[in-house]
Amino acid sequence: MITTDFIQSVRWEKDHIILLDQQKLPHQTDFLKLTTIESVWESIHSLQVRGAPAIGIAAAFGLALWATKFQGDSVEDFKKELKNQKDYLATSRPTAVNLFWAIERVENAAASAQTVEAARDAVVKEALLIQKEDEEVCRSIGEYGLSLLKDGDTVLTHCNAGGIATARYGTALAPFYIAKEKGMSLSAFATETRPVLQGSRLTAWELERIGIDVTLITDNMAAHVLKNKKISAIIVGTDRIAANGDTANKIGTLGLAVLAKTFDIPFYVASPLSTIDLAVPTGDDIPIEERSPDEVTHLNGQRIAAENISIYNPAFDVTPHEYITGIITEKGIISGNFAEELQKIKTN
Ligand code: MRU
Repeated sequence: MITTDFIQSVRWEKDHIILLDQQKLPHQTDFLKLTTIESVWESIHSLQVRGAPAIGIAAAFGLALWATKFQGDSVEDFKKELKNQKDYLATSRPTAVNLFWAIERVENAAASAQTVEAARDAVVKEALLIQKEDEEVCRSIGEYGLSLLKDGDTVLTHCNAGGIATARYGTALAPFYIAKEKGMSLSAFATETRPVLQGSRLTAWELERIGIDVTLITDNMAAHVLKNKKISAIIVGTDRIAANGDTANKIGTLGLAVLAKTFDIPFYVASPLSTIDLAVPTGDDIPIEERSPDEVTHLNGQRIAAENISIYNPAFDVTPHEYITGIITEKGIISGNFAEELQKIKTN
């Protein structure tokens, strides 16, 4: 069913959070009511909320949730405990830098507060601002991304860097939303994205919902599709970009980048500035999450793998910057000397 109805993946409701359960999609559109910071940690860890910007937003609201429940009248105690809660949320997932960026912002927002009331207000306000800004950022990424495409183009994307992974519009999927608004026709290939299936469960669902002609393929079909179909560009999201432009994104992204170079297809990374981490010099310094072997051995609770074997389940890989044609940010598209351009765009 084609609809322009916008589904917000994370919503702040004064003393609780309403969260779209992304693990239930596409069969069920269920919303969870979160009332504790522990449930926010769990929902990030278990991928009920996922995608770098949405993780950051959920964590920021997690701190807001804790702040609204804080009992006590010492602002110093509030700040000390806010740091502890921030450190706790930081253990939920390691790769997406937006998590650390968002909770740092929230902590800093309360730093100069003189009363508990003022600190609490600052925390909630900052969390809401992070979400609002992300919506504007994603829209701008969509506009810049679309400027690289023309009517009738087909874009291949991996994982889900869509509206539900952000405040709205997404990053890699934002050009599709803007194209729809402008009456421009784009179509998509979505890779299934084993083992958690963000491509088949989320991207295909999200694009179909807004009326984009989307074709689902399994991950191992990508080389064949890139060689034989007319793919205008690959656009993916990212969880962290190092200072030299090396980019961590969902496992499988590196393979697509290598294929893109082989078949001379432009390979773009759509990234908010908040996902650029100048503190890590290269991709080798980005922590890569390893998740439960069950994600590989089981499908819908059913074991699909042989018994008594070893499993390796890295959730992300790093694409060296040499493979990236351009990085689409809210301030423009950068290419060439990424080290220099990233430094410039982050500090201007
Ligand atoms: O493990 P996930 O589903 O959180 O991984 C998500 C991705 O890799 C996305 O591409 C990235 O976070 C960007 S979302 C705008």
